[in-house]
Amino acid sequence: MKIRECLSFDDVLLVPKFSMLGSRKDADLWTNFMDGCDLELPIISSPMDTVTGTDMALAMNSSGGMGIVHRYNTIEEQAAMVTELSEAGVDPIAVAIGATGDFFERARELVSRGAKVLCVDIAHGHHLLLRNALSALKNEFGADVHLMAGNVATLNAFNDVSDWGADSIRVGVGGGSCCSTRITTGHGVPTFQSILDCSESDRDALIIADGGIKNSGDIVKAYGAGADFVMLGSLLAGTDEAPGDITTNVSGEKYKYFRGMASRKAQVEWRGWSSTPEGVSTMIPYKGPVGDILADLRGGIASGVSYSGAFGLKDLRRNVEFIRQTSAGMSESRAHILGGGQ
Ligand code: XMP
Repeated sequence: MKIRECLSFDDVLLVPKFSMLGSRKDADLWTNFMDGCDLELPIISSPMDTVTGTDMALAMNSSGGMGIVHRYNTIEEQAAMVTELSEAGVDPIAVAIGATGDFFERARELVSRGAKVLCVDIAHGHHLLLRNALSALKNEFGADVHLMAGNVATLNAFNDVSDWGADSIRVGVGGGSCCSTRITTGHGVPTFQSILDCSESDRDALIIADGGIKNSGDIVKAYGAGADFVMLGSLLAGTDEAPGDITTNVSGEKYKYFRGMASRKAQVEWRGWSSTPEGVSTMIPYKGPVGDILADLRGGIASGVSYSGAFGLKDLRRNVEFIRQTSAGMSESRAHILGGGQ
């Protein structure tokens, strides 16, 4: 058996190129999401219950991105969140649903309240259940609703999920900061490699890079590899707008709770029982307003556009050149003055 070598974000760097971009403020990050909807900042917050509730969805919308409202509650509770966003004027309203149980009834209720994006949120998206769910949703809503689906790790899965009716596909299995899928099941593909592979697709579905994005550099690498959008969990968790309370330890340091949706704790809380966990839960340092985080990410992405000799993300995607770096290169890439080197 031939075993393929696959690359992670940290294995690669983008080569700097001659730039004519006057100011990074001029970098064009606009990306089309669906008919009548271009996003100024192609960042989507993950439908996790410690990342996206109404406050995060509102903040993402006002920063030019999009938040997917999580599904770990009753239909009535999620529908009330959609109503709140529809008053507030969020457009498009994006919500997560599952692929079993009450998913169809939930989808109907959420769409009737104004949701325009349904994210069918399952961990292993190359699955009969997703095919059946997409078929039922497409039949019911036709082109009125944007169907996001996932997650997938391979080109073959990406093409299948696209053929089943998905308009955008979450790409990345087991790479998330709170995931233990690769340890529990032995399965996964480094997210950067999955994006590269799926970018070979001749289908029109958008690529949403999801899982393992640690900083704006990874975001630029994801776009360079072919992602249309990135989905973020931990980078946006711990902020004011992420659901959950701030706790303070004895030293006065502030934290917020963050957890994988397949962690034992999350499973028990949202459905009353747990199968073998494929995620972890933790406290992370409190970060303040998410707008500050998004402003930093936007600045890093815009600088990345300039370093690539591009004017915006469209020409960055066409002109990028990746190189591989060694582990010595990775050590040099991190700020190392504080590392106690010789
Ligand atoms: P980051 O790295 O941005 O990743 O925090 C967020 C993504 O991780 C996925 N996710 C999980 N994957 N077990 C998993 O294997 C889990 O418990 C889990 N919870 C979230 C999901 O794709 C999310 O967007």
